[in-house]
Amino acid sequence: MRPVLEVSDLHVHFPTPRGPVKAVDGVSFALHPGERLGLIGESGSGKSTIALAVMRLIKPPGEIVRGRILLEGVDLLGLSEEEMRRRRLAKIALVTQGAMNSLNPVIRIRDQIIDGMQAHGIRLSRRGFDGRLTELLQAVDLRPDVADLFPHQLSGGMKQRVCIAAAISLRPAVIIADEPTSALDVVVQRRVMQTLRRVQDELRAAVILIGHDMGLMAQFAERVAVMRAGQLVEVNGVREIFARPQHPYTRLLMESLPSLERRGSSLLATARAAVARTTSGGNDS
Ligand SMILES: Nc1ncnc2c1ncn2[C@@H]1O[C@H](COP(=O)(O)OP(=O)(O)O)[C@@H](O)[C@H]1O
Ligand SMILES: [Mg+2]
Repeated sequence: MRPVLEVSDLHVHFPTPRGPVKAVDGVSFALHPGERLGLIGESGSGKSTIALAVMRLIKPPGEIVRGRILLEGVDLLGLSEEEMRRRRLAKIALVTQGAMNSLNPVIRIRDQIIDGMQAHGIRLSRRGFDGRLTELLQAVDLRPDVADLFPHQLSGGMKQRVCIAAAISLRPAVIIADEPTSALDVVVQRRVMQTLRRVQDELRAAVILIGHDMGLMAQFAERVAVMRAGQLVEVNGVREIFARPQHPYTRLLMESLPSLERRGSSLLATARAAVARTTSGGNDS
């Protein structure tokens, strides 16, 4: 099967007075239709920069200095800004890190989502939009009347669900979710992840989940790519990564499980159980 997204030899630099920061330094990977790929690595390793580069949203003076990004066979780096704009949201959507805090505080949820659709040329009657909005909100387990609220009237988990609803509004083939739950408490995190998983399944979208929580990764991803200092040091099936991490850095990540330890042993136990399930060779659905 041809990959839906293929990144080859991607280099992204941010100039500084002391020379360029090579935030992404020769990264290549492929994402298959419907696949769930986890992208992990410590803070500053270049995960968000990959996401922004794939969306062509790197802000100058940051620059993609080399590489190829094929989306459904089309090189995004060769497109005009207008052609790229039309593909964002429609073909590839990003839930940015901290997205829930970037919702416009003075615009109702309804209009935030509909504005995005209209910007892509979707023309529906008021009733048509309302119907679609209800569908989208239900898909992320929100009540339809959330559409009438402002962001400050929602909890963090609800805001993150709104961001997911907006991201799927045009049924993209690829969704990138950059640490979509890291600002939420553990119980809410798990529920939001379950929602993302179900939405992904219904849409048959490919998803890149960026994060550093091994427990959530183990439950969500089929394959895991490990970043360190701008490079991918290991890409493997989730079972293999957990059972037999190849790279010393991956082993370190597995051993430390820092975010899990901090949140107490019950979650750690859950994560270990999840890993045991995925590594047992039995039910991995
Ligand atoms: N706008 C920017 N200007 C300068 N440096 C940046 C910018 N964005 C990211 N970087 C640098 O690029 C590297 C990777 O950052 P990032 O992709 O945000 O990492 P991650 O998402 O893995 O935490 C870091 O060293 C960071 O300081
Ligand atoms: Mg980041």
